[in-house]
Amino acid sequence: MTAEGFIRDTIQVLLSGRSYEVTVGSGILGELAGVVSRLAPAISRAVVITQAAIPVEIDPGVPRKVLLVPEGESAKSVSVAESLCREMATIGITRSDLVVALGGGVVTDLAGYVAATYYRGIRYINVPTTLLAQVDASIGGKTGVNLPEGKNLIGAFHQPSAVLCDTAVLSSLSEREWASGRGEMAKYAFIPSSAGERMGTDFLDLSLEKQVSACARLKAGIVSEDELEMPGGRRVFLNYGHTLAHALEAVGFDARSAVDLRHGEAVAIGLVFAAELAGRLGRIDDGRIDQHRRIVKGLGLPTGIPDGVHADDLVAFMRRDKKVSDGMVFVLDGASGLERVQGIDEYLVRDVLVTEGARP
Ligand code: GLY
Repeated sequence: MTAEGFIRDTIQVLLSGRSYEVTVGSGILGELAGVVSRLAPAISRAVVITQAAIPVEIDPGVPRKVLLVPEGESAKSVSVAESLCREMATIGITRSDLVVALGGGVVTDLAGYVAATYYRGIRYINVPTTLLAQVDASIGGKTGVNLPEGKNLIGAFHQPSAVLCDTAVLSSLSEREWASGRGEMAKYAFIPSSAGERMGTDFLDLSLEKQVSACARLKAGIVSEDELEMPGGRRVFLNYGHTLAHALEAVGFDARSAVDLRHGEAVAIGLVFAAELAGRLGRIDDGRIDQHRRIVKGLGLPTGIPDGVHADDLVAFMRRDKKVSDGMVFVLDGASGLERVQGIDEYLVRDVLVTEGARP
């Protein structure tokens, strides 16, 4: 994949009184100070929330204090959020100051949550350093932390003031982190734009920069239309493939489990499963199912459920998934595009899981 012809792309998230820009390009990190200087009212100081292992330096152009959080998902906790707020209070951060989140989805979710709640909300800018965060987590204002009882159970919608997606910083990602980002990217090939067009397999032919910018543009459009994921709105489409993905991740959290999937890898498997389920319900034909497999495989991702996972465990987790309120609910493809489909027979779901590699 080359970046031929691509310099930078600026995408608007349009929200009454809270619109902001997502900038995508290679080497755009140097624009941060300019972005900060254009915020009104003016910013006095910045708190950069990041992790020690993130090999990226930034200059917000105002006096800054770097606050480090632990590596991994454990950083997304109430106690880490409390420590950050206490450090910010100790150094006297106020509403005229800024939070800059520099990292992957864990950092942008956590720092966004701190920004959403400290002083009842201060401004923040996301500088995502993983592919997954660039195409999804950093855009749209979903912020939050986990509880032992579940992921993202405490959170708030709080939109950033800007997002800078510098694709040059992705070169240091591990292969697994790339795969995770590609899995989250795959869903965008199936989500229609507001004009009703889907990228389908054309997505595979785009350069990395164009893929990131196409995903960011699609997400920005959806968030502009349905910021709060209201019933009947389009934001739920961003959960395509995620119901099974969350169940696979939950199975993997058990220390005795051999399942080792990154979020995006689990989403990739969830997309193929959703296509097979839609096929069994007569919603799509074999060609459309095959398109799902081609896109997931074309991005170098797994399509089947890993060995040793029991269908009953997956069904139990999917029943508990926070997006399930009445019977089994999935976002599924169909003649008129993606739809939230309720009341799906649990035995059919189980059967499709087994076809996709789960143990009966
Ligand atoms: N990651 C899904 C959303 O932002 O709605």
